Amino acid sequence: MTRGELLKQIAREVMGEEYAEKLWRRIEFIGDIALIRTPLGLDPLELKPVAEEILKRIPYVKTVWAAIPGVEGEYRLRKNVWLAGEQRSETIYREHGCLFKVDINKVYISPSLNYEHIRIARLVKPGEVVVNMFAGAGLFSIIIAKHSKPSRVYSIDINPYAYEYMVENIKLNNVEDVVIPLLGDAKQVVEEKLVGVADRVLMPYPEKALEYLSTALKALKQGRGWIHVYLHVFTEKGEHWKSKAEKILVDKLRELKVDDYKIHQVRKIRNVGPRTHQVVLDVEV
Ligand SMILES: C[S@@+](CC[C@H](N)C(=O)[O-])C[C@H]1O[C@@H](n2cnc3c(N)ncnc32)[C@H](O)[C@@H]1O
Repeated sequence: MTRGELLKQIAREVMGEEYAEKLWRRIEFIGDIALIRTPLGLDPLELKPVAEEILKRIPYVKTVWAAIPGVEGEYRLRKNVWLAGEQRSETIYREHGCLFKVDINKVYISPSLNYEHIRIARLVKPGEVVVNMFAGAGLFSIIIAKHSKPSRVYSIDINPYAYEYMVENIKLNNVEDVVIPLLGDAKQVVEEKLVGVADRVLMPYPEKALEYLSTALKALKQGRGWIHVYLHVFTEKGEHWKSKAEKILVDKLRELKVDDYKIHQVRKIRNVGPRTHQVVLDVEV
């Protein structure tokens, strides 16, 4: 039986057929933590029986938490409620052969970016200098360092906990020679230390990507290179996420007086709300 089938079975047995379909897809695994994204309108504590069953039947799960819908604040944290098992929120999460120590209550972490991390790593050419403006615990930066041959990855985050975990994760994965952790506001760090250094800039924070685009442009070597812009795109009836995302970026580039560019790819990562799409645009300027 696959993990998905087992989760569906547990959800069906504990919550009934009606809830099973809704629930099982909402369970994420971050190391030995199972995190249930609470369906809207449900009290997270009502998920305790499911949590206990997950703990009993999936041997590597040691603790189960419920996430309240939504990600909050500048550090992009979820509010989590402990449900069952060991009362801890720190774990080691594995992705693409790398190890990441994280605390789900202190740093942003999302397994749904799994494919995006490796997709970007595969685009990085040997010798490139990369600036990751919103690095979290260092996932993009470290996976790039491990899977490609960049000469440097400057990895910035404003959350002191994310920075501390990033420092630890850089050591854990033996990439101290390549990944440089930097604590602070990306705009300030780039403008003080990283103007004109990068071949590629990552902006994996949809809420700030447009506001910080002029800073990303400043980070590029002679204003030329690649920028990966992550956006949340809301579509009205009749609109398509792809053309809407392109329009948003093109309008911003025009405002910044950038007219020599090519958008190579527009990719939808996931839905983040009703008619709201998380999208990444790979743009070469
Ligand atoms: C969506 S998360 C990044 C996810 C991460 N890249 C990953 O792959 O797991 C956005 C991150 O941006 C950080 N952040 C928010 N505002 C920032 C700023 N002004 N400068 C630098 N980092 C910032 C947050 O602390 C958070 O860790």
